[in-house]
Amino acid sequence: MKALILSGGKGTRLRPITYTGAKQLIPVANKPILFYGIEAIKEAGINDFGVIVGDTKEEIKEAIGDGSKWKIKVTYIEQEAPLGLAHAVKIAEDYLEDTPFVMYLGDNILKEGVKGFVQKFKDKNPNALILLTSVSNPESFGVAELDELSRVKKLVEKPKNPKSNLALVGVYLFDKNIFKAVKAIKPSWRNELEITDAIQWLLNKGYTVESHKVSGWWKDTGKPEDVLSANRLILESIEKDIKGELIDSTIEGKVIIEEGAKVIKSTIRGPVIIGENTKIINSYIGPFTSVNSEVIIERSEIENSIVMKKSIIKNLERRIDESLIGREVKIFASSRKPMVNRFILGERSKVEVLQ
Ligand code: G1P
Repeated sequence: MKALILSGGKGTRLRPITYTGAKQLIPVANKPILFYGIEAIKEAGINDFGVIVGDTKEEIKEAIGDGSKWKIKVTYIEQEAPLGLAHAVKIAEDYLEDTPFVMYLGDNILKEGVKGFVQKFKDKNPNALILLTSVSNPESFGVAELDELSRVKKLVEKPKNPKSNLALVGVYLFDKNIFKAVKAIKPSWRNELEITDAIQWLLNKGYTVESHKVSGWWKDTGKPEDVLSANRLILESIEKDIKGELIDSTIEGKVIIEEGAKVIKSTIRGPVIIGENTKIINSYIGPFTSVNSEVIIERSEIENSIVMKKSIIKNLERRIDESLIGREVKIFASSRKPMVNRFILGERSKVEVLQ
């Protein structure tokens, strides 16, 4: 089998972070979201990857490289515009040929991985296998309607009045018949070729479409709150591992401190991960925080947040909570007169200050 990973798109709901970076490369527990997908597919025994890239191709190519990090073979396929998931399948036909494949949306993370799912496809040999999970907001996803025997009856993309709460997870398995489907369907109201419509086309033509319900958690990391929630879910399963240096500090619970990091006169309450060469000085790092490499946090408190590479946080009186802080950001308190708030913020930045 082959894999098709989708890493295009603009990530509009994650601006301003995605002005300067691909949404699939946002770190969750200090690892790009996309890498969780690659590792899950590799674990299912698949080594041949097609990667769909768009505007952020340079960055994605730099992050994945030739795939040797995972001992996989990587072929990049350029999509000229985000014209839909089914469009991505269409342009990947030359790469995929007749081989069945797993299609994985690069911003999805699944606790259980894809191994069981791939096995079910091999055992049952359907034309398509879709993954479903119950959600509280089905109108934001593709939604499946099942019949009394739990067979897939109908699929609708982001329905206004969903017939069930079963969302389509961004992982699909297909055989070559999907190419007929993606060529037959028309663009949707959002001018995209929807994979949901392509699978519905298979159903209409009598092809077999099996479904599988996800047992563990699943996250589509399209919005900041989803990224923070994925971060919490991943951090929940880390194990304590201290490689960096601790000086007069207290560590509670599951905490990872990477090589070269220094924690000085601080308290870290896990689950927390602190990246390489980061310095934490006179500070408190609370549960569910991922601090990336080369960050400085001094005389400040933070929890339930993600801090990306090379950012600096200093002298804050109030604790930071529920925040997504990009690369090389500076947040600090000063006693400079006049005593005012000073901001230099990019388009679509979001700052919430206490009154
Ligand atoms: C896409 C699919 C949708 C699916 C979702 C899962 O939505 O179109 O059917 O439920 O991924 O992440 P999009 O992210 O394009 O809004």
